[in-house]
Amino acid sequence: MKLLFCLSALCLLLAGLGSSMFIGGAHTDPVQPETWPRLDQTQYAGSKKCAECHKTYYDSWKDSAHNKMIRPAISEGPNRTILADFSIPSPDRTFELKDVKWVIGHRWKQRFIGVVNGQEVVFPGQWSIKDKKWQPYHGKADWWYPLHPDWKTRSNFKLCAGCHSTGVDPVSSTWAEQNITCESCHGPGKAHSKQPSIENIVNPARLSTERSIEVCLACHQAGKPKGNEYAWAVGYQAGKKLSEFWQGFEPQADKQTSEFWSNGTAHKNRVQGNTFTHSIMHAAGLQCSNCHDSHGSRQVSMTIKSASTNALCFTCHGPGKTVGPKYAVISEHTHHSPNSTGSQCISCHMPKTGENSVGAESRDHTFNFVSPAASIGKPNPNSCNLCHQDKTPEWALDQVKRWYPKLK
Ligand code: HEC
Ligand code: HEC
Ligand code: HEC
Ligand code: HEC
Ligand code: HEC
Ligand code: HEC
Ligand code: HEC
Ligand code: HEC
Repeated sequence: MKLLFCLSALCLLLAGLGSSMFIGGAHTDPVQPETWPRLDQTQYAGSKKCAECHKTYYDSWKDSAHNKMIRPAISEGPNRTILADFSIPSPDRTFELKDVKWVIGHRWKQRFIGVVNGQEVVFPGQWSIKDKKWQPYHGKADWWYPLHPDWKTRSNFKLCAGCHSTGVDPVSSTWAEQNITCESCHGPGKAHSKQPSIENIVNPARLSTERSIEVCLACHQAGKPKGNEYAWAVGYQAGKKLSEFWQGFEPQADKQTSEFWSNGTAHKNRVQGNTFTHSIMHAAGLQCSNCHDSHGSRQVSMTIKSASTNALCFTCHGPGKTVGPKYAVISEHTHHSPNSTGSQCISCHMPKTGENSVGAESRDHTFNFVSPAASIGKPNPNSCNLCHQDKTPEWALDQVKRWYPKLK
């Protein structure tokens, strides 16, 4: 299943020779491709191989979001992958359906990859699934924008593939398998497939808490790689120490950045890792996999149990559980009627503060109650006014003070 694209090691070398690059705020010499950690794609077996012995996991994963990330462009029929409407003209869409080779995304937005001058590049327009319209996509808020201002040279392999495909080798610009597959989280498994043993495959459940969560952070934590112009953790594989390859962005006190609002909550999508690592639950040793089933589930966002019925949080929280909150009836804690959306734990502790294709689509993972005080005189969203949009933060803060007198 390997594909060889025109962009060879030689092309990369030539591209790098021209000028010194601007990386991480300092001028550094371009890193020579030969010195990059290469990835031995012959060690990968492919998920179909894993399916021979782990069919249940395979069947569940196959239909999950991780397997719908990057797909060939198909605009009609039961296998349709294009949700965007190419009949709608827009100044934000300077390309046609026939130019599209791969489509990325299926839930919030779609972006499109085509071949320009022999290289797979990302087109400068995206489709918002929620708003059903075309939007500009230039990556201007991304740290890498100054390195790749011209979309015609915005390489899929440099800027995207490491997080959307498996076993990506930057030197050859090839991948072992498309999408986030078994071997994205379990490491290469050819040896294991030939002679199954727990010694020759990574099981995140057997890693230390830190190494284990890093398997997810490699893609779900916004940041920068070390020492190259790529936008993903080049050379990282499940089980390795992520900090040797990747530096996650941290919130800055009272400052709004591309990733965070000024109070440290999620400002955009895919910052679950950046925010969760600041939570009390992370400090208590919890992992992404305490709430999410990596192999897919029937719930929204692959949660183990439903979050909208509170079943997920009730696994560990609530009356009779060691962790709070303590109450006889739920309304004592939530101050909304029991069946109200205002009584869902995630409504207040995971508000949709993050922008995806439009605002308020991605849930904050600090799990803090985001006080309306954070919104007074600032654009920060909070846990109350995302629902009570016709009211002011002052109104909400007044209620909160009466309902939660102990809150600072
Ligand atoms: C020929 C059958 C076979 C194939 C193919 C196979 N496995 Fe396994 N796998 C097993 C067996 C058997 C075990 C249990 C080994 C043991 O307990 O010693 C196992 C165990 C595992 C474990 C758990 C290890 C642990 O620490 O408990 C993981 C994770 C795993 N396999 C992933 C994979 C992945 C990913 C692939 C594809 C790259 C794959 N397997 C392909 C048979 C297979
Ligand atoms: C560091 C890893 C990483 C890089 C680099 C990356 N992405 Fe993503 N991307 C993700 C993750 C993780 C998500 C899932 C959304 C979330 O977690 O909030 C995502 C989501 C998306 C989505 C929305 C998917 C959907 O179903 O709606 C699109 C479209 C997308 N990325 C396109 C791109 C493009 C194009 C690039 C390159 C310019 C890129 N991404 C680079 C990790 C990455
Ligand atoms: C997004 C990351 C991810 C992907 C993709 C993924 N896994 Fe896993 N897998 C995990 C994690 C995390 C665990 C350990 C915790 C758990 O069971 O949720 C695990 C555990 C396992 C185990 C061991 C279960 C046990 O009994 O201990 C097997 C076997 C396995 N996965 C097979 C697969 C196969 C086969 C695929 C592909 C079809 C796959 N996984 C895809 C993350 C992933
Ligand atoms: C190689 C990159 C990569 C790794 C590793 C990875 N993810 Fe993802 N994840 C993505 C991308 C990209 C998406 C968006 C997929 C889409 O929208 O089609 C995503 C989507 C998700 C979603 C949303 C699912 C949905 O139904 O919309 C959850 C939850 C998630 N990942 C959890 C995890 C967890 C937990 C781990 C670690 C065990 C993990 N991911 C590891 C890249 C990754
Ligand atoms: C305490 C439980 C919990 C933990 C821990 C957790 N999540 Fe989530 N996550 C959720 C819930 C609940 C949702 C939203 C489900 C819904 O809308 O029904 C969610 C949503 C998501 C989504 C969908 C996009 C979004 O931002 O709304 C992704 C991706 C995701 N989580 C990834 C992760 C990753 C990666 C980690 C670890 C760094 C993690 N989560 C840790 C509970 C958790
Ligand atoms: C696997 C168990 C588990 C699950 C599931 C879980 N939590 Fe937790 N949660 C904990 C633990 C343990 C703590 C830490 C308690 C402590 O150290 O005081 C905690 C702490 C918290 C805190 C901080 C409490 C404080 O002291 O300020 C909040 C808020 C919270 N969880 C919300 C949620 C929400 C919302 C969900 C559902 C989306 C959820 N949790 C799911 C185990 C869990
Ligand atoms: C209407 C908003 C709202 C809803 C809904 C809500 N909470 Fe809270 N929660 C708060 C506020 C406000 C605090 C106080 C925050 C603080 O002290 O920092 C809090 C505090 C907590 C705490 C820490 C303090 C304590 O009492 O132990 C936990 C744990 C918690 N909530 C869990 C949950 C769970 C689980 C659910 C769902 C059953 C839930 N919350 C639903 C607003 C809410
Ligand atoms: C997920 C949406 C949601 C969130 C978040 C939410 N509410 Fe509500 N709120 C509702 C709904 C729906 C009602 C209607 C009555 C009911 O269901 O209890 C309501 C009713 C109310 C009322 C009584 C009716 C009124 O409008 O005067 C007050 C006061 C109120 N909410 C304040 C708050 C405050 C303060 C917060 C933050 C701590 C908050 N709400 C968070 C949805 C929400």
